[in-house]
Amino acid sequence: MSVIVLDKLTKDFKNGRGVFDVSISVKRGECYGFLGPNGAGKSTTMRHLMGFYQPQSGSATIDGLNCWRDQKQLQSKIGYLPGEIAFPVDMTGKNYIRMIAKMRGMKDLSYEKELEDFFEINPASELRRMSKGMKQKVGIILAFMHKPELLLLDEPSSGLDPLMQSKFIELMERFKKAGTTILLSSHMFEEVERTCDRIGIIKNGRMIQEINATELRHSRLKTFELECEEEADLNKLLVQFPKMLYDRQTRIVRISVPDSRINELIAALSVCRLRYLKEEKHTLEEYFMQFYGGKSNV
Ligand SMILES: Nc1ncnc2c1ncn2[C@@H]1O[C@H](COP(=O)(O)OP(=O)(O)OP(=O)(O)O)[C@@H](O)[C@H]1O
Ligand SMILES: [Mg+2]
Repeated sequence: MSVIVLDKLTKDFKNGRGVFDVSISVKRGECYGFLGPNGAGKSTTMRHLMGFYQPQSGSATIDGLNCWRDQKQLQSKIGYLPGEIAFPVDMTGKNYIRMIAKMRGMKDLSYEKELEDFFEINPASELRRMSKGMKQKVGIILAFMHKPELLLLDEPSSGLDPLMQSKFIELMERFKKAGTTILLSSHMFEEVERTCDRIGIIKNGRMIQEINATELRHSRLKTFELECEEEADLNKLLVQFPKMLYDRQTRIVRISVPDSRINELIAALSVCRLRYLKEEKHTLEEYFMQFYGGKSNV
């Protein structure tokens, strides 16, 4: 059953800006990645889901409720992390967190404290004096502290250092395991690769592709680089993997195989004398970069 349903959502900001006929549905417990270049329409779409904008045409619903009309009812079940967080200037992080918790009717702040420890932040200082990363951590705490059933995360790890980015992915994985539905916009391929089940690509306000991330992970070829100690082994491999790339002088070989041929490759390599073997990491990045460039509009 779908939690989020966008049906031909349209908001025309004029001059070709906005979102046009965006249709997406996200199932319960699914993590949906929303990718696209700057200005593509990701944040605009998410703001519609939060009920901040009224659609010009089409609709945005969550659990069958209209995001614009029923926003009050919906907001308690959502954890939203905006792309650009606007904090009050004259409050400490802690007081602001307490204020939002009170507005949500939260009595138990033990999970909030756990998140502070997890992200190694003491939000006692004034929000306006905080670094970008610290503010982002406060934003993350606000989005996650009530353990919402739906997370709308707009570039959640922007501004976090690499260690914190990796911790944030860990947190998302935990929520995903617990069955939380997640819509995540991101420019970070690793984050998307590790968490998303499906990925939608938006460009110039229009959805241009939807991809099953799990299928994509398994359909891609894996490439291994190795060095044979003996030329005879290189020749043997060549018979079995005629498309492999090799250098006869260095005896360095690169073999690309689909998952379905992995066992065959291991069997073939087990009778060779190798100096080393390593897998070349392919990332979703290579696949997605084609959509980011100026030309590709399909
Ligand atoms: N309130 C607004 N009024 C007019 N134009 C707007 C408004 N909000 C967004 N836009 C325009 O709509 C387009 C989509 O913007 P949006 O912020 O949704 O992009 P995005 O995909 O989130 O980009 P980024 O990756 O840079 O965050 C942009 O061209 C932007 O300038
Ligand atoms: Mg944005």
